[in-house]
Amino acid sequence: MKQGARIWGFGSINIDHVHKLDHLPAAGETLASHDYRVQLGGKGANQSVAAARAGAKVCHLGAVGADGLTMRDVMEGYGVDCGGVQVTDAATGHAIIMVDRSGENAILLHGGANHALALDPALEALKSAQAGEYLLMQNETAWQPEIAAAAAARGLKVVYSAAPFSPGAVQAVMPFISMLMMNEVESQQLQEALGTEIADLPVQTIVVTRGAQGASWHAKGSADIFVPALPVQVLDTTGAGDCFAGALVAALSEGVDAPAAMRFATCAAALQVSRAGAASAMPTRAEIEALASEGG
Ligand code: RIB
Repeated sequence: MKQGARIWGFGSINIDHVHKLDHLPAAGETLASHDYRVQLGGKGANQSVAAARAGAKVCHLGAVGADGLTMRDVMEGYGVDCGGVQVTDAATGHAIIMVDRSGENAILLHGGANHALALDPALEALKSAQAGEYLLMQNETAWQPEIAAAAAARGLKVVYSAAPFSPGAVQAVMPFISMLMMNEVESQQLQEALGTEIADLPVQTIVVTRGAQGASWHAKGSADIFVPALPVQVLDTTGAGDCFAGALVAALSEGVDAPAAMRFATCAAALQVSRAGAASAMPTRAEIEALASEGG
C-alpha cells in the first residue's frame, strides 16, 4: 500500500452515550431506551479514525478531560497518533445520541474539553507539518480559524467538514481552506446566508453529500463529478458523514484522482451505515477495497 501525505485531524473527541429507541422523541415525550452503549465519538475523532482505517497516516490534535483518557487510547488503537491530544481540566466532550429503528439519529452535544483546549500546544504540534500534507477539521472545537490559518501558512491543504453546520463558522475559515464539505441542506443554507451560489464561493473544491442520492464534487476549472450512493441496509447513520470525509481525504492524500477518491469514500460510507456505532463502525481499507472491487 502506498503511504500518502500525512493527515492532521484537528477536531473533537467525544464520549458518545448511544441509546436505541423505537422513534425519536417529540417535545415532552418520555421514551424507553432499548439499548445503551458508551463509545468513542466526536466528529473529529470519527474522521481521524476513518482516515486511519482507510490507510492514511493520521496525527490528531484535540483534547480530552481526565475522564476521556480511554477515548484517546481507543483512537490510538485504531492507528491514530494522539501525541497532540491535550488533557484539560474540563470534562471530555460528550454526546447523547438517540438512534431510531430506521437508523436515523438525533444528537445532543456538550463541548467540554473540545472548547477548553489550548491554542499554543496545537500550534506547536503543527510546526512539524510539511507543505502538501492535509489538515482535516470540523465545527466542534475552539480555535478553528487560528489552526486553519496556521496550517494554510505552512502549505497544508485545509479541508473543512462543515458539521455541525454554522454559516458563520464556515465564513471564519473560508480564507484558509481548499476544500469544503457539507450536505445538501447545508449547501442551500450557506448559499442563502451568504447570498452566493456555491460555484462562486472562494474555495477551490466543494463536496456536497446527498445521503441516498450520492455525492457531488465541484472544483473550479473542471467538470463536476457525481457519484451515486450504494444500495445498503442502513442500521445507523451516526458518523456517516465523518466516514465519508475521512475516507475521501485518505484517498486524496495518496494522490488518487477525484472520481476514484469519491467512489472510495462512497464505499466506505456504505459500509459504515450498515453497522452500529460511529468511530467503531469505520471500515478498514481492505473492506473498502473489497466492496469497490465488487462494483461498489
Ligand atoms: O457525526 C457524529 C458525531 O457527532 C458523534 O460521534 C457525536 O459525538 C457528535 O459529535
